[in-house]
Amino acid sequence: MQGREQWATKLGFILAAVGSAVGLGNIWRFSYVLGEGGGFAFLIAYIICIFLIGLPVLLAEITVGRKGQSDAIGSFEKIAPGKWWKIGGVLGVLSGSLILSFYGVIAGWVFYYVFSYLSGSAGGVAEGGYGDYFGGFIGGTVGPVFWQVLFMAIVVGVVYFGVKKGIELANRMFMPLLALLVVILAIYGLTMDGAGEAMNFMFSPDFGQLGNMEVWGMAIGQAFFTLSLGMGAMITYASYLPKETKLPSAAGTVVTLDTLFAIFAGLMIFPIVFTFGLDPAAGPELIFITLPEAFGQWGTGGTIFGIFFFFLVGIAALSSAISLLEVGVSWAMRRLDWSRKKAALTAGAIITAFGIPSALSQGGPLSQPIFGYSFLDLIDTITDQYTLALGGMITALFVGWGWNKIEVLRETGLQDTTIGAIWIWFLRIVAPVGIFYIVANNFYNMFI
Ligand code: PHE
Ligand code: NA
Repeated sequence: MQGREQWATKLGFILAAVGSAVGLGNIWRFSYVLGEGGGFAFLIAYIICIFLIGLPVLLAEITVGRKGQSDAIGSFEKIAPGKWWKIGGVLGVLSGSLILSFYGVIAGWVFYYVFSYLSGSAGGVAEGGYGDYFGGFIGGTVGPVFWQVLFMAIVVGVVYFGVKKGIELANRMFMPLLALLVVILAIYGLTMDGAGEAMNFMFSPDFGQLGNMEVWGMAIGQAFFTLSLGMGAMITYASYLPKETKLPSAAGTVVTLDTLFAIFAGLMIFPIVFTFGLDPAAGPELIFITLPEAFGQWGTGGTIFGIFFFFLVGIAALSSAISLLEVGVSWAMRRLDWSRKKAALTAGAIITAFGIPSALSQGGPLSQPIFGYSFLDLIDTITDQYTLALGGMITALFVGWGWNKIEVLRETGLQDTTIGAIWIWFLRIVAPVGIFYIVANNFYNMFI
């Protein structure tokens, strides 16, 4: 048997993990939840959730993957044979694949915007016309599916070439490019007239909203999504790590870079929103309608900004989607004994096909609501609000309670340290209670 694939270097793993983390979540999702959550209050709640729950769970996932040296389900089975803990992995593989089905749709919209800014058609829309422009596109039949399939084909293409020659190589190119683009665009944003108001919105203390449970619910959901937790992605990526890598510093780097990236994304987006007097709480359409509206009023400069902006978002989405596909591919290679190529093509095709109803649910032919949600929003809600968090909770409980503590700490490299002891208690109590509270809250809110 051939040895299991591995990253060429530790940096390769970190870049890939950061690539998984940094995605639509940092730009599209972070900016609209920050806007809806009232700016600063949300930011505080978010940072608290990231450090109290996100970081410990991320380290737990990385530890499970590296120790298990197998896919998201196989890693649990190897560490705890015959136990129920592997449900955490099963949830991961399911959520990862479900998320990718609609993630590909939204990323397809982003690619369409890159193309439309390049061709000039997006720059030429009349003032106030972007709502119809966007609605017309996503409500079509051929358009949204075409761009979704194109995006997914690129994702499959990268995964097809394997851990080193596909995933690691792609992230080595994308991550520096992303960092460069977001820094340039954020600096540019800070020179705009609305920069002061944007800084105020993001950073001026307003603790009143911290009593609002909804803000916390949004914050923890965002923390899971943005760190790619609860869906097997980090377990799978960590399983390609050699034994000697230091895990805590890797987890810390991923969290820090992901958070910085989100803040920079805010610094690039909100100055534009405020400069043109638009609504920061516009919701999911913020980057697809509100920002283009601002780019349009700004003229040629806006078109150029638009090209770079959507290109940036597209690359970020690509590296995240790659990690989502790898979850299922890695599982199929072990469990079904498929070659990587067969697994990438088949899993890619199935997930893309399952995403088509989402692509057609935004005004297109499959728009009938199900339980009050469009198909896309339904899959999004089920995963974001429930299965991700549950998967993360099971991993936390497993590493906290189900796995021998001495062995866990040895694997992580935190034996006999205070940090290690604190970490274990976060996994045992803080993270599960926090997650449970939020999930219960989401569930309750659904019925009132
Ligand atoms: N973390 C990614 C983002 O912020 C989304 C993602 C979730 C990617 C899960 C991979 C796995 O967009
Ligand atoms: Na992210």
